[in-house]
Amino acid sequence: MEKRQELYAGKAKSVYTTDDQDRLVLQFRDDTSAFDGKKKEALARKGMVNNVFNAFIMARLQEAGVPTHFEKRLNATESLVKKLDMIPVECVVRNIAAGGLVKRLGVEEGIELAPPTFELFLKDDEKGDPMINESLAETFGWAKPEQLAEMKALTYQVNDVLKALFAQGGLLLVDYKLEFGVFKGKIVLGDEFSPDGCRLWDAETREKLDKDRFRQGLGGVIEAYEEVGRRIGIEFPA
Ligand code: C5P
Repeated sequence: MEKRQELYAGKAKSVYTTDDQDRLVLQFRDDTSAFDGKKKEALARKGMVNNVFNAFIMARLQEAGVPTHFEKRLNATESLVKKLDMIPVECVVRNIAAGGLVKRLGVEEGIELAPPTFELFLKDDEKGDPMINESLAETFGWAKPEQLAEMKALTYQVNDVLKALFAQGGLLLVDYKLEFGVFKGKIVLGDEFSPDGCRLWDAETREKLDKDRFRQGLGGVIEAYEEVGRRIGIEFPA
């Protein structure tokens, strides 16, 4: 496999074509952003930590029967993935109230959500990723009803697998965002799963160990990501 030209540079990852038209290289950069790119910083080691973290989680999900785009980790900061036709919809599941839900509905941060909630957002930076629903997604052609149903089922399946995995490390999976695409006609999990796109709290102290440390200027961002990783059995290179 040979890496070719840069196809796209996102806020934290860059995507490269390869000599295989069905495969891409994802490069995890140290760049970190929040609030629609208004807060930006490069955090040393983040690219490596998120690449290794994501590889571990994608492998666990694949083992549990969730189809993912992940093929293999290539080096410290890059992974090989299947090239998907991405669906421009973000799926969010919440187990505990935090972040956008608290802001939108004025509910108390930290309350348990039973059953867990499922929300859809349009992936559109210029519009600030507005909240949408199944009807809007169908009408505007962002996703078909059967695709949305599959995405929802897979997002909940991921919740079962990862809530249990993080619980073993004394961690609460508060919420997370997933993105899906289509590969050879099938819905497949794409993008990444790392502490950049989820909330993880210490189960005892409820200390925040995810990107909220960056958003809220709490410091120790990458140290927290590595702590979470170590607790679920990830070994990071020195
Ligand atoms: O901001 P909000 O509370 O709606 O985010 C819910 C979850 O989705 C959080 O874990 C957040 O990190 C993640 N998210 C994301 N990318 C976005 C929006 C939300 O990773 N564009």
